[in-house]
Amino acid sequence: MTRFIYILGIETSCDETAASVVYNGRTVLSDVISSQIDIHRPYGGVVPEIASRNHIEKISFVINSALSISNIPRCKIDAVAVSNGPGLAGALLVGLSYAKSYAYALQKPLIGVNHIEGHICSNYLHSEWEPPYICLVVSGGHTHLVFAEDYGKYRVLGKTRDDAAGEAFDKIARVLGLPYPGGPEIEKLSANGNRDAINFPKAFFKDSLDFSFSGLKSAVMQYIIKTEKNSGYKPCDVAACFQKAVVDVLTERCVDACNLFGVKKLAVAGGVAANSSLRNNLLDLCKKQGIELMLPQIKYCTDNAAMIASCGYYSGKTDDLNLNAFPNISLFESGVLNG
Ligand code: KG4
Ligand code: ZN
Repeated sequence: MTRFIYILGIETSCDETAASVVYNGRTVLSDVISSQIDIHRPYGGVVPEIASRNHIEKISFVINSALSISNIPRCKIDAVAVSNGPGLAGALLVGLSYAKSYAYALQKPLIGVNHIEGHICSNYLHSEWEPPYICLVVSGGHTHLVFAEDYGKYRVLGKTRDDAAGEAFDKIARVLGLPYPGGPEIEKLSANGNRDAINFPKAFFKDSLDFSFSGLKSAVMQYIIKTEKNSGYKPCDVAACFQKAVVDVLTERCVDACNLFGVKKLAVAGGVAANSSLRNNLLDLCKKQGIELMLPQIKYCTDNAAMIASCGYYSGKTDDLNLNAFPNISLFESGVLNG
């Protein structure tokens, strides 16, 4: 008989307070997110102290809602999974402390989850996707090209040497006077722009699958300063050409990784994976190259707790109540990734 494992996932690493109940790592029974975007928007980015305070205010309500929507009684929860890094220290500690108390009260295991691995696991939600595959993780803080050889077994093939892709979107949006978070705003503005109007540089390293977006960022800023002095610039063209430069590099490198490692399966994860230009480019190129592509539902690309619950299910480990938060933990240090 199939056993149903119900995991309560908790996510508070940045500016979303989220809780979710997922069974057998794939089926989302509830997915509750309280976003702080409107609170941080006037500051142009996330203010850590404000984020922590808001997590404290919202977490009980969010977890109770997730449990009640799932219709799973507390006593049937098999484990509590929580992101314990990377992320903002104070923000992580709110979710972690709550998860510890919950696991202790229920007398159920606690599972610490690496937030980046959580994003990778968003591909398993409501899907039959399985390793091995190449995964591009593109969020506000991370840009990694990973070979997911098996559940919980990964190899980093490339990563950004400076800005993360989402960070570059947010910074250019700010220069263009767009509100936080910049990614969706740049995407919207690009829709009216000519993506061939300006030729911004794309960084490809010769013998490496690493990324770099700082040169592109500087080129966009210089273009804005230069054209402001003369005839002015068209913000929609700048947005469209910047987005094209980022998307082209990400797409080409994904396909390179698949071909280099002979893996004909590709997945994406993280907030930037919600970008429709990236999704469409990948669909086109993967079709041409015979690569099977997995695009997680857009709501599971940005931070959520369903991906954390799924990751807890596949992590195959439990932690004790001394588990700490690791704001700067890398994929290697967490013991999650190797190679
Ligand atoms: O994964 P996420 O929610 O949080 C982190 O773990 O960082 O990603 C947030 C990032 C932000 O930089 C945001 O601007 C970007 O994802 N983002 C997008 C889009 N939606 C969110 N970037 C480009 N296009 C989008 N549609
Ligand atoms: Zn994230």
